[in-house]
Amino acid sequence: MSTLTTKQVPSVLAASRMANVRYAIRDLAVLADEVAAQGHKILYCNIGDPCKYDFPTPPHMIEAVQKAMADGYNGYCESLGIKHAVEAIRNEAERDGFHNIQSIFVCYGSGEAIDSCLTALINPGDNILTPNPEYPLYGAVLAKLSAEMNAYDLDESNGWQPDIADMERRINARTRAILLINPNNPTGAVYSRETLEKIADLARRHNLLLFSDEIYNKLIFDETAKHVSIATLAPDVPCVTFNGLSKAYLVPGWRIGWGIATGPADQINPYLESVHRLLRARLCAPHAFQFAIKPALEGPQDHLQWVNAKLRSRAKLTVDWAAKTPRVKLVAPKGAFYAHPSLDIPEDDLTFVSELLRKKYVLLVHGSGFGQKPGTKHARIVTLPQEDVLTNAYAKISEFMQERYR
Ligand SMILES: Cc1ncc(COP(=O)(O)O)c(C=O)c1O
Repeated sequence: MSTLTTKQVPSVLAASRMANVRYAIRDLAVLADEVAAQGHKILYCNIGDPCKYDFPTPPHMIEAVQKAMADGYNGYCESLGIKHAVEAIRNEAERDGFHNIQSIFVCYGSGEAIDSCLTALINPGDNILTPNPEYPLYGAVLAKLSAEMNAYDLDESNGWQPDIADMERRINARTRAILLINPNNPTGAVYSRETLEKIADLARRHNLLLFSDEIYNKLIFDETAKHVSIATLAPDVPCVTFNGLSKAYLVPGWRIGWGIATGPADQINPYLESVHRLLRARLCAPHAFQFAIKPALEGPQDHLQWVNAKLRSRAKLTVDWAAKTPRVKLVAPKGAFYAHPSLDIPEDDLTFVSELLRKKYVLLVHGSGFGQKPGTKHARIVTLPQEDVLTNAYAKISEFMQERYR
């Protein structure tokens, strides 16, 4: 008869660099699931997914994908994207004033394009200038690559425009690139042409690659703001512009995004060859969904009218609430679907959003999850929910603050 011994099984240890990989937006959703499991109805103002709210996908895009599937486009395809999709992206970029286009690559969301472009660039110990606050995907990928963090300030007192002097101060021998998110997540800022020209000049003088994340470029609802792609101002500077269907075309779950690489061929092509190699190794982006790219970019754009009209009135409602709420200050957003108010509160903002969730069932994301200037506190609000939901959420936040900080 065999004797059963209890054997100590060593636990599987994750790589130590994973300690720095965080994604605050989804991390907090775990707590929300616990609160929801207790039977509470949560007001979700946390996730930048228009499909979770009243923003239906344009039907002609759905038809194009359904037809592609029925026609048998269900196998692997070209690693950099199917021909008519890449052509549609190129045609639009050229119409928008991009010159010196060296490569276009379709990916599994702009997130994969970002990951691949950082991976092909960064050696351990290198850094890129990232905005503070930032969209946390960048910090997560950079941590994975053992990069050093080097974040420049977005200046809240100047409409959240990048602080160019801070950017320049931070450039060092290991700096490889400057990242812009324009229009910005989490602040909703849209950068002026003048700011972009100064940043392009910095990149030019210090031989840095530019990364410009423009996933919200068609979601601009403030009449005084105009989106300008930095690549169009600096065809002489190597640049990769990220975009995709997720936000403006209302299909984040389809995972279709891309990169457009511009600049002098001799400067950028050796790097692009590495990006391409990575993309070949992962085979391809979702095949049938790429059939939506051409109809999206070249078909009717009228949905953008009502999308931006809704975003405008929801942003206004948010700005009006902030203006009358003690302890809350908000730079009015001009694009994307976020508001990033500062909070004058005696506790950290993670405690604030966690307690708000537990007590009033409203889900925001804490500012510290995006990075912020020491001593400041913020919360990111997603302004996609319908007006009655937002009004209700704001009433609950006000009530919570009154009860907690009176
Ligand atoms: C600034 C920014 N970049 C990239 C992404 C990723 O988008 P995608 O769905 O194209 O991967 C997001 C998603 O929220 C975003 O806010």
